[in-house]
Amino acid sequence: MPKVCMIGSGNVGFHLALAWYEKGVQVVQVFARELKKAVQLAEKIDAQAITQFQQLVPDADLYVLAVPDHVIEQVASKMKAVLPTSAFVVHTSGATPGTLLQPYFSNFGVFYPLQTFSIPRQPDFQQIPICIDASTLAQVQLLFTLAVSLSPKVFQLLDTQRAKLHVAAVFANNFTNYCYHVAEMLLKEDHISFELLQPLIQETVNKMKQLSPAEVQTGPAIRGDVNTLQRHLDLLSTHPDWQLLYQHLSDRIQADLGTQ
Ligand SMILES: NC(=O)c1ccc[n+]([C@@H]2O[C@H](COP(=O)([O-])OP(=O)(O)OC[C@H]3O[C@@H](n4cnc5c(N)ncnc54)[C@H](OP(=O)(O)O)[C@@H]3O)[C@@H](O)[C@H]2O)c1
Repeated sequence: MPKVCMIGSGNVGFHLALAWYEKGVQVVQVFARELKKAVQLAEKIDAQAITQFQQLVPDADLYVLAVPDHVIEQVASKMKAVLPTSAFVVHTSGATPGTLLQPYFSNFGVFYPLQTFSIPRQPDFQQIPICIDASTLAQVQLLFTLAVSLSPKVFQLLDTQRAKLHVAAVFANNFTNYCYHVAEMLLKEDHISFELLQPLIQETVNKMKQLSPAEVQTGPAIRGDVNTLQRHLDLLSTHPDWQLLYQHLSDRIQADLGTQ
């Protein structure tokens, strides 16, 4: 099995390293800026905890940058100073092109697990699509081996395809989650538990296993219930930003789905 160094012990680094360890992949080092954070992960997977790039072993098969998008380039440039140019370095970002690493390493790629990760919540990697790409066929094969050890859903996507997938994921996950937050805040004002919405949320997701989002759209906007729409807008008068959001989303539903 290949030898991997994990750079970053946050949400993705933590779960990816742990999942690989469980599948017998050797994650030999965990880099974090604070020793405590590196140790927290490293001791779970029999890896060495490090806090300096100079401590990186030069002969790992793969270096995974699980760091925030805005520091990927900065971290790559620091690693370039201590690793051979031929080292194989990937990042785990959906939105960032793999070619960002090209000025630093001749072998570069992307290992993007399409899921929302948080350290306290155990992900089920079997269900997670993993999007890979790399600069050479041999490296695509290495990433493929590492990906299928975790999940049967492995896809090789171009940077442009992954960028589109990522923006779609922001709509599907981040924006809907924010809408759940707005819903929870509105309910709290009237001492109603968010739990009441759980079956509705669940059924919306369940329906999409068989039907497209356009087919399952319901609500006052698509029905053209103008009186209900106005009542809702009036109710939101004390939250002008949410009122605007409501108006805009209702307009889009009517414009994009209303005639279907
Ligand atoms: N979270 C997700 O759901 C998810 C899903 C798929 C892909 N991704 C991608 O995975 C990558 C990591 O995301 P994440 O959610 O795991 O982030 P995160 O939880 O914030 O963890 C980032 C890690 O990078 C370290 N770090 C931050 N700045 C650094 C720097 N200047 N130098 C070295 N290390 C630094 C952090 O260390 P400290 O603890 O010291 O700050 C932390 O260990 C991102 O590219 C993201 O787009 C995330």
